[in-house]
Amino acid sequence: MVTVSVCVGSSCHLKGAYEVIKLCEEAIAESSVRETINLKGTFCLGKCSEEGVTLNIDGEIITGVSPENFMNIFEERVLPRLRKE
Ligand code: FES
Repeated sequence: MVTVSVCVGSSCHLKGAYEVIKLCEEAIAESSVRETINLKGTFCLGKCSEEGVTLNIDGEIITGVSPENFMNIFEERVLPRLRKE
């Protein structure tokens, strides 16, 4: 299982965190891997000064996430972790 935590702190909220969560839910549904991806919100990850929304994917902090680049990040950072299992 991969855990994707989307920061919903105030800074990331303003940068589109809830849109990123919605896109992640859609991506999970479309890729039929719902059982193996645990999606949750998290408090501030301490990267407010970085560009975009911050994610924590299995302990790896990823900054600069936006609704525009989310699908690339999902394909490059989330799906490969599933294929390894
Ligand atoms: S609010 Fe998201 S890193 Fe601080």
